[in-house]
Amino acid sequence: MHHKKHNKTLHYPKMNRFISYKNKFQQWLIKLIGQMLRRRKTHQEVNIYQDKIYQPVKETEQYDLKVYGEIPKQLNGLLLRIGSNPIHVTQPRLFDWYLGDGMLHALELQNGQALSFKSTLLATDQVQQIKAQAQIQGFRRGAHDVVNTNIFAHAGQLWAVIEAGAFPICLDKQLNSLRYQLFNSDANLPFTAHPRKDRQTGHLHAICYDALKCKNAYYEVIDEEGQLIHFTEIELAHAPMIHDCLITEKEILVFDGPITFSVKHLLQGDSVPYTWNPKKMMRIGILPKYADAEQIVWVELEPCFVFHAANAYRTDQEQIIIDVLVHHDDFRHAQYAAYELQNAQLERWSVDLATQQLHREVLDSQVQEFPKIDERFTGLSYRYLYTLKFRHPEAFNQMCIHDLLLKTSIPYDFGLGWGVGEVTFTPETVESAEGCGYLMAYVHRLDGAAAKVAILKVNGLEIQLQAEIDLGVHIPLGFHCNWVNDFELSN
Ligand SMILES: [Fe+2]
Repeated sequence: MHHKKHNKTLHYPKMNRFISYKNKFQQWLIKLIGQMLRRRKTHQEVNIYQDKIYQPVKETEQYDLKVYGEIPKQLNGLLLRIGSNPIHVTQPRLFDWYLGDGMLHALELQNGQALSFKSTLLATDQVQQIKAQAQIQGFRRGAHDVVNTNIFAHAGQLWAVIEAGAFPICLDKQLNSLRYQLFNSDANLPFTAHPRKDRQTGHLHAICYDALKCKNAYYEVIDEEGQLIHFTEIELAHAPMIHDCLITEKEILVFDGPITFSVKHLLQGDSVPYTWNPKKMMRIGILPKYADAEQIVWVELEPCFVFHAANAYRTDQEQIIIDVLVHHDDFRHAQYAAYELQNAQLERWSVDLATQQLHREVLDSQVQEFPKIDERFTGLSYRYLYTLKFRHPEAFNQMCIHDLLLKTSIPYDFGLGWGVGEVTFTPETVESAEGCGYLMAYVHRLDGAAAKVAILKVNGLEIQLQAEIDLGVHIPLGFHCNWVNDFELSN
């Protein structure tokens, strides 16, 4: 094995029936108090999330899908997309999109055929209650039971995840929710929507935080069998929202930014009471993998916020290169706004490990988000980065491939009237060079009339439309999208 041996016994908080019941009661209480506080909310805001491209849908299964072009025969698996799809909103004005019921969308491809498309709700307690169905297995934790942010395969199974406290939900291949659990571990710890998988070891490295326990974050490592093999508490003064993290060959990076827990927003009835904190700087924590929190080194920079990070790696010159989508202080206004109103730009941060000096370079000042890479290069020197560009008002119809070596980029336009969701890259073969393979994404009509899946053949900066699959139904714009190969799943 490439990873360190763990001789010491790992001590971590364990979940049990009693704590789970206590958490369930806490969730009920928080929901009740939240409803009371929201009643007092006075400011009028328009809720865009019930309409058009965001309009929630019912569960569905579609067969006989119309295919244009040729689906590559080696793509055998599921194209998964997860997002917020509230099934029961009593007061749309007070509804928080980030906490809408999680829905999964899955297109199954086999041997050049689009076999089926399915939209299904995650069986959270709230959803099961509305459907009058039994609760799923597993213990409960966190301030609420919603899971809606990301989905991926690990330890042979599918896991849907959210940050700030709730356990992941384990699903079978048919997308039935099986149970809440921190993978196959018995730990009582929060998780994150964005763990990073180390390709050398198969371990998931994650920076996680708990909305109910504000003064720290956790660095957790889950092994290839789904067991917790490392855990350390990082003390943090301001209770930050930490959405993403990065790894290099040697370390994990912590983004401790100025979006922090706010009592004022909590008392205003905000379901996600985190806001821009003008008193706080941005800092990056550099912690060796599998190390204890005392070893963390902080590098500070001007206030900015990182929602999604692209990749990081070490250079021969003892530098760490960190590619990130950076939100500046206008994020205080845009935090709850639609994607296209969030002004993130692509930056490269270089940290000199000897002097701990950080150098910032803007790689692309156009508004963009949802970075994806060829994940065989996670934590390693890499060349190609895929992002979505948001151009107001006719919005987000553009994907962009960045060549970070040649410092150039090329856009791909999905056409007027269409909005593209996060892309996912899969290599043509396991031996293919970086950036040679397929990009897949769900593409939505802005008016909510239809949705399709686009498969692009890419090789470096070359882009060619390979196939389009008409889903026959609308699905709302959502959060994250991943391709899962059949061989990643054991059940
Ligand atoms: Fe995310």
